[in-house]
Amino acid sequence: MFKIAVIPGDGTGPEVVREGLKVMEAAAKKFGFKYEAKAFDFSGARYLKTGKLVGDQDIEELKKYNAIYLGAVGDPDVKPGILETGVLLKLRFSLDQYINLRPVKLYNSGFCPLKDKRPEDIDFVVVRENSEGLYKGMGEFRDKGTKDEVAIQVSYNTRQGVERCIRYAFEYARKRNKRKKLTLCGKTNVLTYAWDLWERTFYEVAREYPDITTDYAHVDATTMWFVKNPEWFDVIVTDNMFGDIITDLGAMIQGGMGIAAGGNINPKGVSMFEPIGGSAPKYTGQNVINPLAAVCAGAMLLENLGEEKAAKSVEDAVIEVVQTKLKSLAAGKMGYSTSEVGDLVVKHLK
Ligand code: IPM
Ligand code: MN
Repeated sequence: MFKIAVIPGDGTGPEVVREGLKVMEAAAKKFGFKYEAKAFDFSGARYLKTGKLVGDQDIEELKKYNAIYLGAVGDPDVKPGILETGVLLKLRFSLDQYINLRPVKLYNSGFCPLKDKRPEDIDFVVVRENSEGLYKGMGEFRDKGTKDEVAIQVSYNTRQGVERCIRYAFEYARKRNKRKKLTLCGKTNVLTYAWDLWERTFYEVAREYPDITTDYAHVDATTMWFVKNPEWFDVIVTDNMFGDIITDLGAMIQGGMGIAAGGNINPKGVSMFEPIGGSAPKYTGQNVINPLAAVCAGAMLLENLGEEKAAKSVEDAVIEVVQTKLKSLAAGKMGYSTSEVGDLVVKHLK
């Protein structure tokens, strides 16, 4: 019996999580595994009511679960930064989910904004470092509010933090067994401390993986290649900030936020899976948001639990629905409602 902590969150989060759980329940029946889902109400709405974010006790409680399933956290009435640090980053950091795994896979060329790209052209995975870099929150103001003000924001990179991420990426490229190519995405030409460490570590670890082809691309060039030649990529490893940025572009070329899922992974602890788009407040409660990103996040969660057949079957059902049913992946334009899309995936489970 698996224990899954569910954080529906804000906005359309609860709606997409409902469909994700509907699909998970159907997959559990089909593949004969059992789980109990317990809801946690961490959200912007709760913060506005109670002032509560995620506390250390909450973290201890979550450590008793096999996985976390998150909808979205974000409320337009809360000042930017509070929920991000107090909920999402608190969870990622405190549970040491040091990998943010973001597959970029096109399921239907009709939904790709790029000309002439087929599903086989856009099929790569970004391994984003998820615990350090600019996200560490290190820095200071000097002479705040004066004309001489200086704001310093530090990118904090430890050898151990960088190495464990790079190692994960090499292992992932090997296990994925596609093109067996790992690209380091950085900025060695300007950020000469951080990327010196990343580059040295990358090529040192690479010696242990002679079966994996290595490559390097600057982050600016990477965004260019995403648009021009996405077929060059297999697995990409990068730091927290660059990973955040390039995966939004990745989401667009795979068909948009409606389909993009990610996992915050602690290989030895509790991992958390989420659609990578936000809480989409303007679509809340209308039954129009695309739940497939959440469904795909659910598939990643199942794979993480070792239910690989179930995960594959959910992904295959999503592919089928995206290829044969939906008019668009965008909210309100799918030709079906949120709950109907969930039903379609359930119907196509094999
Ligand atoms: C993401 C989001 C978060 C991030 C925000 C909400 C803190 O953009 O998951 O990519 O920057 O990591
Ligand atoms: Mn982001």
